[in-house]
Amino acid sequence: MFLRNAREAYLRYLINEVLQRFSTLCITKLEIQSLMPNSRIQIFDTTLRDGEQVPGCQLNTGEKIEIAKALEVLGVDVMEVGFPISSPGDFHSVQKIAKIIKNASVCALSRAVEKDIEVAAEALTGATKPRIHTGIGTSDSHVFDKLKTTRENVIERGVAAVKFAKRFVEDVEFYAEDAGRTDNEFLAKVLEHVIAAGATVVNIPDTTGYCLPWDYGAKIKYLCDHVKGIENVTISTHCHNDLGLATANSIAGVVNGATQIECTINGIGERAGNASLEEVVMILRQQKGLCFDTGINTKCLKSMSGLVSQKMRMPVQPNKAIVGSNAFSHSSGIHQDGVIKNRETYEIIDPLDVGVGESSIVLTARSGRAALKFRGERLGFNVSKGQLETLYQEFLLIADQKKIVQDRDLIQLFSHSSSSLTA
Ligand code: KIV
Ligand code: ZN
Repeated sequence: MFLRNAREAYLRYLINEVLQRFSTLCITKLEIQSLMPNSRIQIFDTTLRDGEQVPGCQLNTGEKIEIAKALEVLGVDVMEVGFPISSPGDFHSVQKIAKIIKNASVCALSRAVEKDIEVAAEALTGATKPRIHTGIGTSDSHVFDKLKTTRENVIERGVAAVKFAKRFVEDVEFYAEDAGRTDNEFLAKVLEHVIAAGATVVNIPDTTGYCLPWDYGAKIKYLCDHVKGIENVTISTHCHNDLGLATANSIAGVVNGATQIECTINGIGERAGNASLEEVVMILRQQKGLCFDTGINTKCLKSMSGLVSQKMRMPVQPNKAIVGSNAFSHSSGIHQDGVIKNRETYEIIDPLDVGVGESSIVLTARSGRAALKFRGERLGFNVSKGQLETLYQEFLLIADQKKIVQDRDLIQLFSHSSSSLTA
């Protein structure tokens, strides 16, 4: 699997290179790409680990199991479900989930410390597809200020951690913490060593959300070009959202050769959060020219978002892409008129594809006659053009008082209007 993904990504990268160099070909890049099979991107969900680090969002074992089961139905390839050394409760949760989940890989986090790895391995006992995630900081600030050591020592510790983890499981993912701010040459050296030590996945975290998409993409490309053995492992993105770029950086990562994206439901996670699962998945699905796909059952996205929000007591912002309550609602007259005539005028995603029942036409003082007529008809009121004009003026008076005009207001408006209406 790793080999296949990595080779596919490498092949895609080579084809891109050829296409860029022969830009005078009459056939376009998009046309050639459409002839190629889509490349499958692995979705690594870390809602139950990085996501759960959010203050106040800690979950008990029962809640974690419920979310893990829903993530399996959603179709994630890997779920990182905890940091077992961190607390007995987290150890217990990982232990339980490891025994329940059958289709996805179950991953546990550790530092590059033997005790952490041993505890992670113990918690994963009985998992169908166990993965240990271990690693160490590689940026100058991590090496010199946090770890107060040398670059050579960081490589030694990383290699030792991977070798130690391999005693327990075959699937070992290595993270180079703060890779986003790590010098590329040194990062390449670290990765070459951990791959030689047996890492099956190399994670390139933009831990502080510092990178710009083209810089993060270039980093992945640099690693593809310079790390011996990288074609035999999975390259993973892990982007934080401190500058609002986590999703864009993850996409830049896969376009440049990564084949796994680490992300969370609703984009929750440390500080400003992680790349949002629903966003990266829908970008890969909607942007056909990218030629990627995932194994995610997108119809479960809305309910998955609701479950995580409810269990973590963390509301979803209304304008959140894909899963926010306003993501498919239209309130201005111009937009409403377009959507009523053809949904695609203002929507690039079919709400049914992400598990949202339908688009909504919200009535406010910015709404138009088309929307009022549409909503009236849905309640069973058919009106003539003249009647609509009268009703619309009355509607605006109500809308100016109330922020949103509800069905009950409409029923009153339509039924008590002086105009004679057919219901
Ligand atoms: O952001 C980060 O660097 C992490 C690692 C532990 C993977 O979460
Ligand atoms: Zn993180």
